[in-house]
Amino acid sequence: MNPPSPLNLLNQLARIIEEKKRAQEQPICAYLYDLDALRRHVEEVTRLLPPSCRLFYAMKANSDAEILKTVSEHVHGLEVASLGEVIKARAASERIPVIFGGPGKTDAEIRGAIEQQVALLHVESLHELKRVEHIAASMNRIVSILLRINLSGPFPQATLAMAGTPTQFGIDEPLVGEAIQLALSCPHISLEGFHLHSLSNQLDWRSHLELLAYYFDKVDGWSEQYGINVSTINVGGGIGVNYADIHSQFAWNDFADGLSRLISERNKEGTSMLFECGRFLTAACGYYAAEVIDIKKNHGKHFVIVRGGTHHFRLPVSWQHNHPFAVIPLDTWKYPFERKGTTDSDVTIVGQLCTPKDVFARDVLVDRIRISDVVLFLYAGAYGWAISHHDFLSHPHPERIYLESTPVLT
Ligand SMILES: Cc1ncc(COP(=O)(O)O)c(C=O)c1O
Repeated sequence: MNPPSPLNLLNQLARIIEEKKRAQEQPICAYLYDLDALRRHVEEVTRLLPPSCRLFYAMKANSDAEILKTVSEHVHGLEVASLGEVIKARAASERIPVIFGGPGKTDAEIRGAIEQQVALLHVESLHELKRVEHIAASMNRIVSILLRINLSGPFPQATLAMAGTPTQFGIDEPLVGEAIQLALSCPHISLEGFHLHSLSNQLDWRSHLELLAYYFDKVDGWSEQYGINVSTINVGGGIGVNYADIHSQFAWNDFADGLSRLISERNKEGTSMLFECGRFLTAACGYYAAEVIDIKKNHGKHFVIVRGGTHHFRLPVSWQHNHPFAVIPLDTWKYPFERKGTTDSDVTIVGQLCTPKDVFARDVLVDRIRISDVVLFLYAGAYGWAISHHDFLSHPHPERIYLESTPVLT
């Protein structure tokens, strides 16, 4: 099982975009979200997991209310990184379990999280651990926590971005003993286990299993050394999306089968294993559609300038990659003069911003693209709008179109 292919929907999306184009004067600029595909995908990802696993949605990937509502129906809970996200999570579902992580939580956030009955707090430093105890004591509450550990490595694979290398995340592994002793000495803290999220955009299921086996080794070692009972291991998110080759995606079914075997080999059936995935759940359901406003050749290169820009969809700049897209040809042409376009050319797709960094894809071969066609960026449902600097240049925001059996326009 792979994430749904966004290509399956291209004809339907082209029709919706054509209709919109006929109905409006302004160039198209919209996010489209396929809620049916999202629902099916999340339901299947959850269903394939072994029984001791729980899937939380890392809502930082996309906290749009419709997306949250849809995802919430099929996951075991939501992972949040701020009080603002707790409030959005509660708006999506009153009762869904919420777990709270992230470096630099304020006292107000810790207090708010406890008030909002979060199921687990992920504690990222010794100072934060003392503050959680202090605040929980003042509220006369006992708070369940995981210690987020920044593992030293070396890891069974090379490309880890969040741990094994100096970053601001988690408690340095050499301090794990001190953190455990401190947590055990706090009367208002219940230490449930560890949070070990260490990477981003894992594309290979076998490598991911190796990483999880490494996590088990670590946790078993700490349990033995410090005589603690670990009820929960949060293995984080980081399941990737292959933007460079959209036909080759993370094989979740193979991973889930391998995970069942691993859990049984390591006798971990009684340990609750939490996943907090963002990208893998929502990327495929989202599209960013941007109409071509101009095409020009500068210094020998074709530039295609679209309505909108990376202030709406920052992911390609943030990751410095060529974002996958399709060209939706539109036959509407309103001017009395020639329509400009280019065929069989390498083009660079850019937005309206006044910076040469406003690039979605560079030197990509297209069969044909013309002014007033629409460029449809695929896999735009995670870390798209959510990470973008929306008001730079004060352009209007893109509209949102939600596709269910009947599309909902807002
Ligand atoms: C602590 C933590 N958990 C989960 C995630 C979600 O990661 P992904 O979207 O790669 O699954 C992130 C992403 O930054 C994170 O920092």
